[in-house]
Amino acid sequence: MSKQEPKIADCKPIFLDLEPGEYWYCRCGRSQNQPFCDSSHREEGIFSPLKFEVDRARRLKLCRCKHTGTPPYCDRSHLELDECKE
Ligand code: FES
Repeated sequence: MSKQEPKIADCKPIFLDLEPGEYWYCRCGRSQNQPFCDSSHREEGIFSPLKFEVDRARRLKLCRCKHTGTPPYCDRSHLELDECKE
């Protein structure tokens, strides 16, 4: 049985200036509010969002390919995805 893969929301990360607070990172890739959760994962019930905290105002590079090993941050795994190679 194959492992369920998340949907690739985008082949590039997104840079966002975030204020301190709690955020919910989308892990299923189906949210229409990338990179954040919009509860779309509930339709399949496989993935759950990841809560993360920002301690001070800062610019972050967040993954949208959903294959990073360091969610919610981009670790450049998108460069290895066949679907993202041109
Ligand atoms: S966008 Fe997913 S690892 Fe870079």
